[in-house]
Amino acid sequence: MSAPVLVTGGAGYVGASAVRALAAAGRRVVVLDDLSTGTRAHLRWGTFVEGDAGDPALVGRVCREHGVGAVLHFAAKTSVEASVGDPDGYFRANVVTTSHLVRAARDAGVRAIVFSSSAAVYGTPRALPIPEDHPLEPESPYGATKAEAERVLAEGGVPAACLRYFNAAGAEPDAGLCERHDPETHLIPRALDAAARGSTLRVFGGDWPTADGTCVRDYVHVADLATAHLAALAHLERGGRGGAWNLGTGRGASVREVVGAVERATGRPVRVEVVPRRRGDPVALVADPRRAERDLGWRATARSTLDAIVADAFTGWRTVAAETAAAGGGPRP
Ligand SMILES: NC(=O)c1ccc[n+]([C@@H]2O[C@H](COP(=O)([O-])OP(=O)(O)OC[C@H]3O[C@@H](n4cnc5c(N)ncnc54)[C@H](O)[C@@H]3O)[C@@H](O)[C@H]2O)c1
Repeated sequence: MSAPVLVTGGAGYVGASAVRALAAAGRRVVVLDDLSTGTRAHLRWGTFVEGDAGDPALVGRVCREHGVGAVLHFAAKTSVEASVGDPDGYFRANVVTTSHLVRAARDAGVRAIVFSSSAAVYGTPRALPIPEDHPLEPESPYGATKAEAERVLAEGGVPAACLRYFNAAGAEPDAGLCERHDPETHLIPRALDAAARGSTLRVFGGDWPTADGTCVRDYVHVADLATAHLAALAHLERGGRGGAWNLGTGRGASVREVVGAVERATGRPVRVEVVPRRRGDPVALVADPRRAERDLGWRATARSTLDAIVADAFTGWRTVAAETAAAGGGPRP
């Protein structure tokens, strides 16, 4: 039987979907999460350890106690916007934590690490779609921490797959898994919120050099990201080399196209207010996903089409809204 997998950040949005996929594939899982942004509702599979992924003594003990053979490292601070105001905190959370984790895991005999990197490592692309050998020129402290963590992993002595997600989106509402960030910074849940509550969605910049003036992103379903982690893990476990892989669809959608999809899914209009551009936002990010298909045998499925993503996200949004209302809160998840 394959060795157990340690999942840092497994109570979070993407990590929980990966834990589900690992469990469905018959892997034993240990989730290590400090619950700083994660939710207990996502802890449905495996063994849970509450604690800091950057605590080397804890990581070493957990790896030895459970005979961990591989690590999926999701734990991080994740807001581009917040990182601009707190670059040092982001460096500690995303780079120092990764450095401590990789050393402790290596010393405990871990043979493979799959890391949640980001398209934010590229900055404003020189051309689209973006291949993995595009220069790393992050424009936000968040993106810089991901690029630096990739370097730490490349020198960490454990084969590591750095998966550069484009925009994680969608939900797995059949398992109660969806975005539960607070505050929510991601476009689709914010647009769903605006549609459901009749509030205004702020859009950062309407004068970008794109077809409709709004930013373009490559949205990939969280369940597809989860299967990519299993593919990367299998690649490393059969002796494949570490490296970096884009996870995206190769198709971009503008903010206005996302708003249109949210209006179709909810049957309600979204009121939009265009506000000034945000620092650190590249105009367009679209993956060249061919390396992941070639090396890992992974490609995004039909679940990653925009309407399918938004439909799942809306079902997830309603689930959380109902839970929140039942607990005496307002309509917002
Ligand atoms: N969501 C996206 O669109 C996206 C895009 C690119 C990359 N990523 C990366 O994917 C990963 C997961 O993102 P997410 O959206 O699921 O975020 P999330 O906030 O939902 O999940 C992060 C999880 O890590 C936990 N955590 C944070 N710091 C920790 C620490 N020091 N020790 C233990 N647990 C800790 C949190 O409690 C949470 O459960 C992150 O590394 C993020 O940078 C996300």
